[in-house]
Amino acid sequence: MKLVLLLLLLLSPCLLCRRADALLTRGDTNSTGNYFGSLNVSVDADLSAVIRSVDRRFLSVTIDASLASEEKFVELLRSPKIRTLAKALSPAFLRFGGTRQDFMVFTPQRYHQDSGVTADQSCDRVELPLWLEDKLKKEWTQQQLVLMREDQEKKYKRVKFTENTVDLLNSFTNCSGMDLIFGLNALLRTAENSWNSSNARSLLQYCESRRYRMSWELGNEPNSYEKKAGIRVDGDQLGRDFKHLRDLMSESKIYHDAGLYGPDVGQPRDHRADILKGFLQTGAEAIDACTWHHYYVSGRDASLDDFLDPDVLDTLTLKTKEVLKKVKLVSPGKKVWLGETSSAFGGGAAGLSDTFIAGFMWLDKLGLGARLGLDVVMRQVFIGSGFYHLVDDNLDPLPDYWLSVLYKRLVGPDVLKIAAFCDFGCSKRVRLYLHCTNTKSYRSGAVTLISMNLSKKLARISVPALVSSNTVDAFVLQSDQPGEAGLNSRSVKLNGQVLKMVDDKTLPDLKGSRLPPAEHLQLPAYSLAFFVLADAQAAACR
Ligand SMILES: *[C@@H]1O[C@H](CO)[C@@H](O)[C@H](O)[C@H]1NC(C)=O
Ligand SMILES: *[C@@H]1O[C@H](CO)[C@@H](O)[C@H](O)[C@H]1NC(C)=O
Ligand SMILES: *[C@@H]1O[C@H](CO)[C@@H](O)[C@H](O)[C@H]1NC(C)=O
Ligand SMILES: *[C@@H]1O[C@H](CO)[C@@H](O)[C@H](O)[C@H]1NC(C)=O
Ligand SMILES: *[C@@H]1O[C@H](CO)[C@@H](O)[C@H](O)[C@H]1NC(C)=O
Repeated sequence: MKLVLLLLLLLSPCLLCRRADALLTRGDTNSTGNYFGSLNVSVDADLSAVIRSVDRRFLSVTIDASLASEEKFVELLRSPKIRTLAKALSPAFLRFGGTRQDFMVFTPQRYHQDSGVTADQSCDRVELPLWLEDKLKKEWTQQQLVLMREDQEKKYKRVKFTENTVDLLNSFTNCSGMDLIFGLNALLRTAENSWNSSNARSLLQYCESRRYRMSWELGNEPNSYEKKAGIRVDGDQLGRDFKHLRDLMSESKIYHDAGLYGPDVGQPRDHRADILKGFLQTGAEAIDACTWHHYYVSGRDASLDDFLDPDVLDTLTLKTKEVLKKVKLVSPGKKVWLGETSSAFGGGAAGLSDTFIAGFMWLDKLGLGARLGLDVVMRQVFIGSGFYHLVDDNLDPLPDYWLSVLYKRLVGPDVLKIAAFCDFGCSKRVRLYLHCTNTKSYRSGAVTLISMNLSKKLARISVPALVSSNTVDAFVLQSDQPGEAGLNSRSVKLNGQVLKMVDDKTLPDLKGSRLPPAEHLQLPAYSLAFFVLADAQAAACR
């Protein structure tokens, strides 16, 4: 049996970053027999300094504007189950946007205005009756076919929305502790091809009258406006449009210091890179963070192998560095966000983006993104559109949902340095990231090792004597079914237990498994894991 031995060395601050080779020969090399032909990986970690701190809402989510393609579907956000699931992901941003945001027009229905001072924010009073939830779920399945056809033909209908959509989004985010980002329509344009802000103005006025705390975006993937709407908007102009919106916001009592994010451009490539550059030159001052979108592969032809391919995962590095460099050049210090991101574009890949295997791309994106310097990563989507959702069309949580909740609980915003070494082109298939642990869950000084096994070989993380007295809590996620077949499962096990909601308002305990001292940290095949080293006493994390 082939074996990967992975040695984790956590050095005290005075012994920074020394190679852990010496430790390769120690430890109980015993339990599975021999090391013959095994791949030995050693690890360096530096617990003395934080290399980077990300936003406390680093892991954030989106709801695609297609959910509002018919306003009734937004009612799904009143489901107690959805709200329970959302709460467990807070603090987070909820971005409402996507292709259809640029076809949405605010069309107020005055009749229910002035019903009170502010909208009813009493969170328990908004519950969606079960019969209505069931009806909407069924209709949503049909609606998705309509949406898919629109996407294929690139012909988008203008969508009218009323106060109701805005009210529901606000009540949903407010009650679940998330921060709403609303994407405005940038394709409302004047004869001179500048942004016509009159519709946005009336929406802002309404939101202000309700005292909604929210932030804003303008336009989605402007690089493909020509394809979607036959309108070309260059970067310079878009930047001026953002300045216009910022001016509008400064006139508002509530939104004068609210967040504004953009330009939500697709992955830099050809003319998209020019759009970003032009945008930054005229618009950088108007925004609080620069957003771009990232997908690894196309949903149409993505394969199972893509999802486990370390080279595919590594493409994020190149693209991120490119964007960070561009932003730094024009606007040093400006935060950079993945404003919309998932595994596969075009709605995701059926049977892949919504199953256990999607977790490798998702967790690696979170690990790598934080390490590279992205400040927020917004997962497309929380619920709704396509196959890349965290919560399926029956409103049941998928494996990536559970992964996200664990990440929230265990991973703090401070990133630490960790590097793996080995003799034969270190296995890119063992991927490790290290953060200070979320201090809401563990006392300060604890560290969380994020790790993944993309390979077919067993990996063992051998904890050296230095930290072997540590309390180690393991949170190992695996498919509920063994072997490769399990990769496409829509259920996930945490430490051997299948995860599911206890009832519509209760999540299960997500308990770690306390490892006895000096035990190996096991990383089974195709597993995702968080190891919390509770007594690491990392100087950087205190
Ligand atoms: C260690 O190896 C010996 C001999 O191969 C075996 O008898 C023993 O059970 C092993 N110990 C563990 C903990 O696996
Ligand atoms: C891994 O380490 C063991 C024990 O030191 C050694 O026997 C084995 O040959 C190593 N494997 C490789 C691929 O270097
Ligand atoms: C929800 O709204 C209330 C009233 O406007 C506000 O005080 C509270 O901070 C909001 N909570 C969140 C999480 O946005
Ligand atoms: C902007 O749009 C509004 C509403 O459609 C329209 O009444 C107005 O004339 C437009 N303004 C410009 C400058 O195009
Ligand atoms: C990944 O898991 C598979 C299945 O157990 C296992 O065979 C393989 O050794 C593991 N690889 C790593 C690098 O952990």
